[in-house]
Amino acid sequence: MSISIGIHDLSFATAEFVLPHTALAAHNGTAIGKYHVGIGQESMSVPAADEDIVTMGAAAAAPIIARHGTDLIRTVVLATESSIDQAKSAGVYVHSLLGLPSATRVVELKQACYGATAALQFAIGLVRRDPAQQVLVIASDVSKYELDSPGEATQGAASVAMLVGVDPALVRIGDTSGLFTADVMDFWRPNYRDAALVDGQESINAYLQAVEGVWKDYTEQGGYPLGEFAAFCYHQPFTKMAYKAHRHLVDYCGHDADKDDIARAVGQTTAYNTVIGNSYTASVYLGLAALLDQADDLTGRPIGFLSYGSGSVAEFFAGTVVAGYRDHLRTKANLEEIARRRPVDYAGYRDLHERSLPADGGDHSTPSQTSGPFRFAGLSGHKRIYEKR
Ligand code: HMG
Repeated sequence: MSISIGIHDLSFATAEFVLPHTALAAHNGTAIGKYHVGIGQESMSVPAADEDIVTMGAAAAAPIIARHGTDLIRTVVLATESSIDQAKSAGVYVHSLLGLPSATRVVELKQACYGATAALQFAIGLVRRDPAQQVLVIASDVSKYELDSPGEATQGAASVAMLVGVDPALVRIGDTSGLFTADVMDFWRPNYRDAALVDGQESINAYLQAVEGVWKDYTEQGGYPLGEFAAFCYHQPFTKMAYKAHRHLVDYCGHDADKDDIARAVGQTTAYNTVIGNSYTASVYLGLAALLDQADDLTGRPIGFLSYGSGSVAEFFAGTVVAGYRDHLRTKANLEEIARRRPVDYAGYRDLHERSLPADGGDHSTPSQTSGPFRFAGLSGHKRIYEKR
């Protein structure tokens, strides 16, 4: 019998500020129904000037370290597509901020929004090789599109940290995966750009093609039939996408499902994403957090995960919810993390959006804005300086 490996703990952090979509709609004259109903977004997290993927990643992981210690963690994998350095892994800064032992391997992974799933699967491989070890997986991203572009309403920021190990307390990850890769230019960000480039409709079509591709492969690999799953966690660039993707999967499988059936399958996974926005690599696992926090007892039930990253790579796999999982959830902390964000008005959001870091190698401090446990204090000699509060 294969050993049980999966998600032992999960914690998330988001940014300091929140912009309600009503403010964006008032600025650009969009009917609010397009945001609230059409794309399914209420608000989006906006990072403070002294926040980035490192501060959010450390904030997400700190409660996991506080609960479990560092003794078993020998690997940190940080997945991101909003990298802060072309060479050094953002995970090394997080490792330092968290005080992890020097006997740790740390690496950064990238494939658009799919990166965290690659990290999770690689972590499972490491744990299978040595079941005494745990891996800290951190998905951390700031989603940024140009002002006044169609993508602007689908920005956001968050980090999810997951502790992966044997006999997990939350979700056991299945051995069977459906895989899909296609070379498409639906969304990308060249190294010289701050904001992503995207072909909106093409990206939705590419996502739906990937849904078909992963499901076909998952079935061929001997995965569960569709009807076995209690719920489905999809990558959510905007929450309506989960509904679109599930409708597409159900039709592809030739099943009958009305609106309520689709809502039952994905509705509870959208609660956090609808107020945080797109958190790229973290998004599918924020979906898991929302589902576990809200659903009736899921013990023993398989959940379907569909991870999509533009460009594109996708994976479908099952996770089975473990008996006693509710004793290990962080529901109160999760709700507090969302509620603690401070509203920013449209002008304030625009200022933050347009900020860029000086590239002259001088000493530059960032304004002290975040109330989170870690801050990006500034630059000195091209080096990023981080502080603990
Ligand atoms: P758009 O052109 O602004 O919006 O782009 P639209 O005209 O397509 O309208 C959106 C929906 O709102 C439509 O519903 C409208 O009917 C509806 P649908 O036909 O899709 O069901 N609507 C209304 N509903 C109610 N009341 C109203 C109203 N008006 C309109 N008054 C788009 C939307 C998502 C394309 C744009 O925001 C965008 O380009 N976003 C960024 C790209 C994106 O999120 N793509 C998703 C798939 S790719 C992906 O998931 C990967 C990604 O996360 C990156 C990565 O992997 O790293 C992006």
